Amino acid sequence: MDNHKQLVIGLFGFGVVGEGIYKVLKDTKSLNASLQKICIKNPEKSRNAPAELFTTDADELLNDPAINVIVELIDDADAAYNIVSKAIRGGKSVVTANKKMLANHLTELIGLRDAHNVSLLYEAAVCGSIPVIRNLEEYYDNDLLSSVSGIVNGSTNYILTKMAAEGQDYQEALKQAQELGFAESDPTLDVEGIDAVNKLTIILKHAYGIDEVPDDIPYCGITQIKPSDIQYAKEKGYHIRLVAQTIQGEDEAVVAFVLPTFVGKESQLYNVNNEFNGVLIGSKLADEQFLYGKGAGRFPTSSAVLSDIAALRYDYRYEYKKSKSSVKLALKNNTFLKVYVSFDSRDAIDQAQFASIDEVYKSNGKNYIVGVIDVSVLFNTEWFYDKQVSVILVEANVAHKVSNLSTKEEVLYI
Ligand code: HSE
Repeated sequence: MDNHKQLVIGLFGFGVVGEGIYKVLKDTKSLNASLQKICIKNPEKSRNAPAELFTTDADELLNDPAINVIVELIDDADAAYNIVSKAIRGGKSVVTANKKMLANHLTELIGLRDAHNVSLLYEAAVCGSIPVIRNLEEYYDNDLLSSVSGIVNGSTNYILTKMAAEGQDYQEALKQAQELGFAESDPTLDVEGIDAVNKLTIILKHAYGIDEVPDDIPYCGITQIKPSDIQYAKEKGYHIRLVAQTIQGEDEAVVAFVLPTFVGKESQLYNVNNEFNGVLIGSKLADEQFLYGKGAGRFPTSSAVLSDIAALRYDYRYEYKKSKSSVKLALKNNTFLKVYVSFDSRDAIDQAQFASIDEVYKSNGKNYIVGVIDVSVLFNTEWFYDKQVSVILVEANVAHKVSNLSTKEEVLYI
């Protein structure tokens, strides 16, 4: 006999993921979940589901006392926020995949959730099908976690893979990522790194209990990566990947950022290709662990939404146990990054900002510097935010390897 709670679902959105969820719910009777109504924006569009399931009136779902779960899968983050907050106020549990909405309203929504004693689950918002949130939430205590670094955006990973492996043009690769349903409807969120920052904001909450807003996380996407950068990576045996990263120093400060990164063969992230995501969890005792899977697309995302729906049958809630910790986000815990910086104008970069320099190359065609720089310097330079300048992480947290940071070795080829 199935003693699990009977779930009656109101679904918002019938796009790539919404339709996937509809199909899975229809075919998986064991879930004890029925789909009562689907709210859509455009009634003219033809849909692969019976017409009587659809409405354009959100209140038909939000005010229906029979519905006890709202599954929110729409694109518009502001509209999603209104739906989710109203649903919670109405005593309904919520499953959402809207990372932008969550990253910007997480603290407030958790407070609302507590006040109304319901669940708010969002595994699909971070790395699609990979159970990153539940793992960070349940398994890793602050004392064990030393870093989280991952490829958390499938579209940029798809584009970077296709550009390097198949020599595809950036626009063509982006178009394919859109056609395959990986990209956001506004793909600048993907390629500028904002989607990765939103996911990192959510990761910070579950990994360390840090309440942050995405605006406070330094980031750089993939739009400024030049063919010469890809060539440099090939020559050195690297793949370029967009990596979201946290590093915890000796104190309670965590440094977090999103940067294109040269990934070498020795890293598990090297083999994360196309729309796949991968997350490396650094643990003080267990060393390194790796989570890998599909991070975007209809069925991988549906799989995480479905897992959250299934968890609601036994009233699962995130406990946010680490929220009581005093770990803070900071840029000043003496964290040094080794970066490759390429730029058009020969004098764009002041080399004195680097703690040490490995390589300098200047010519009429291209210029680059490889060197070690303090995070508090890097993220405060003007050139970091200059779209003509490409900053690629070579190695994070290299302070321990640089014995004399003031010694500068310079190799100059003209
Ligand atoms: N646009 C997102 C990505 C979808 O490419 O990863 C999944 O969050």
